[in-house]
This record gives sequence, structure tokens and C-alpha cells, in this order.
Amino acid sequence: GVLKIGLIPADGIGGEVIPAARDAILALGSALPKTEFVTLDAGFEYFTRHGEALPDETVHALQQECDGALFGAVSSPSNKVAGYSSPIVALRKALDLYANIRPVLAVPKDPNEKPSVDLVVVRENTECLYVKQETLTFGPDGREARATRLITERASRRIGLKAFEIALARPRKHLTIIHKSNVLSVTDGLFRDTVKAIPSQHDKYADVTVAHQIVDSAVYRLFREPEIYDVMVAPNLYGDILSDAAAALVGSLGVVPSVNAGDTFVMGEPVHGSAPDIAGQNKANPIAAIRSAALMLRYMGFSDGADRIDAAVDAVVRDGSVLTPDLGGRSGTNEVAAEILKRI
Ligand code: NAI
Ligand code: MG
Repeated sequence: GVLKIGLIPADGIGGEVIPAARDAILALGSALPKTEFVTLDAGFEYFTRHGEALPDETVHALQQECDGALFGAVSSPSNKVAGYSSPIVALRKALDLYANIRPVLAVPKDPNEKPSVDLVVVRENTECLYVKQETLTFGPDGREARATRLITERASRRIGLKAFEIALARPRKHLTIIHKSNVLSVTDGLFRDTVKAIPSQHDKYADVTVAHQIVDSAVYRLFREPEIYDVMVAPNLYGDILSDAAAALVGSLGVVPSVNAGDTFVMGEPVHGSAPDIAGQNKANPIAAIRSAALMLRYMGFSDGADRIDAAVDAVVRDGSVLTPDLGGRSGTNEVAAEILKRI
């Protein structure tokens, strides 16, 4: 059959890095089934022109025609804009992409050396504070803002199962549950206890060692001794913050990929945002998007193709002569992408 991949570049540097990711897939040639791409609309820019951020056609095309997808980034204004709501949050919900899987890897200079950072953040992708139920009321002390934080046993269990599955497939088989149940004992307590109980319900995870850690000290230890972590599973907000923090340890947000995964569909997405400060200047690092394409292929069952893309990226990073400014180089998005394609 034909593989159909939806491309949603959306805003800012999304439009610069998603074409590079598409080209990396195309460069695999006959290593993949015949692949077709369909470009789909979403984003803030689209909203300003059409009054909606995520057209129904995009959701329908992904649901009905596509085998996988790649998302760029959206620009979300930090003040509320009437009628606007982030399309990426909506897409994760619409497609039930409940796991955001973010591998963070430092490429060592010598390929035989152990990487200084080699971990995966497994972020719950559908609830926590990101249910976005916020209210503003007026009280005796002035304005009062409230937000609902939802943690369910079902969502905690299914993200926990994903995290155990990922840990089991890695050499170290170590999982750290991230929480703040010393303060938020009800919500974070439910998350921690639900994930912790999984090995007692599923024998297959007996070989996975489990630790749990409070989120603030986890960030501290992440910076001091990143090598202690293998797989980290966290509620939505902590996972979002932890993975950007971990990106600092490997040089740039511009190299960290992710997939949004459900039980039947995956959507690759670089961890970074739309980077308006460098958009349109041929400065964006395409590596995060290219590795997101590889990760998407891996989750679709094409691990040979994924390995080839990752090996090409590793080689370009190791070589060091063609890199974007975020990694200390002087090359543009296009040159880095071309160098990677050449090696694929
Ligand atoms: P950002 O991730 O866009 O940028 C943070 C910093 O990292 C900037 O200095 C940027 O230049 C740099 N950077 C990011 N990606 C890079 C790349 N590929 N190559 C080189 N440098 C890179 O985060 P920021 O600036 O806080 O947010 C900008 C916009 O992106 C906001 O509107 C925000 O809402 C949105 N955003 C969207 C996300 C998504 O679509 N999933 C995730 C995070 C932010
Ligand atoms: Mg983020």
C-alpha cells in the first residue's frame, strides 16, 4: 500500500523545519513503501485569516486518510485572544494522542563513548492543568483566577503503561515517576500511586526498576547528574517543563524530537515552539523536526528507516562543521538539512 503522512507546519519556524523532515523521509527511497504527503492547515497565522485555528478538514484528513503526521509548531499569544485556542492541544485530544514521548540524547564525539545524557521524558498529554478550565472572578481581594487540575486513574494508568513499555525496551530498564505529592497529595498522589501499582498488575514489568522523585529536586538532579535518569514519567505540566530543561543539557531545544502517540496513531513534533525570534531567517535547527520524523517512523514500525535518519543526524552533529547557530555553527537551516539528506 501507500503510506500517507499529514504535514502540519503551522507557524513560525514550523514552515522551515517540516519540509526538511519531509525530505528526510523521501531520502529513504525504497526503504519505505511509496509515501505520499498531504499538507494541512492549522495555527495562529491561519486563525488570524480564517477565524479558526484548527479546521475540521485537518482533523478529518488525519483521522480518515493519514497513517501518521508531522506537526511543526504553533505561536500561541500569551494573552487570551477571543475565539483562539491552541490547535496542538486540541489535536492531541481529538486524536487521543495521550502520550508525548520525548527522547533527549547527547551525541558523544566518539561513537563508542557512552552519551552523557540519554533519557526519555514520557509526558501525559491530555489532562493536568492543560484541561484549560480557567475562571476569573471578582472577590473581596480583587480578581481571583482559578484553574482546574484534572488527574484521572485511567489517564495515569495508560501513560504509566506506555512508560513501563518504553523502559522495558531500553538497556537500563529504569523508570522514575515524577510528582509533587508532598504538596499535592490528592492529584499527584493519585498519579504516583497508579503508576507505581502497574508492576504488581503486570508481571512483564518485573525487570523494570522504579524510583519516584519530587519534580523540583528532579530538575536539580537532572542538571547535576543526568546519567541517573533513564525513563521519566510525569503529569502534563511537569513533563512539559522537564523536557525543555533536559534540552538545555544537550545543547539546544532545536535538537529534541517527540511523538504524540495514541494506541493507533502517531504524530511527530519537535519539542520547540515557533521561535518567532529567528523565524524566516534560515537559522532554525532542522534536527528536532528531522528526528521527529525518524521517531514517527519508528513508532509506525519502520525502525530501519528511522535508524538511517538518526545515524545521518549523529554523523552531522559529530562532524560539527555544518551546524546552525544554536549549536555554535554558522550554517543555515537549508545547509544543515542538505548535509543530513546527503548522508541518508
Ligand atoms: P520556543 O521553543 O519557540 O523558543 C525558545 C528559544 O529556543 C528561542 O530563543 C528560540 O529561538 C530557540 N529555538 C527554538 N527552536 C529552535 C530551533 N529549531 N533552532 C534554533 N533555536 C531554536 O519557545 P518560546 O519562544 O517560548 O515560544 C514561542 C512561541 O511558540 C509561543 O507562541 C509559544 O506559545 C509557542 N510554543 C509552541 C509549542 C508547540 O507548538 N508545541 C511549544 C512551545 C512553545
Ligand atoms: Mg513545551
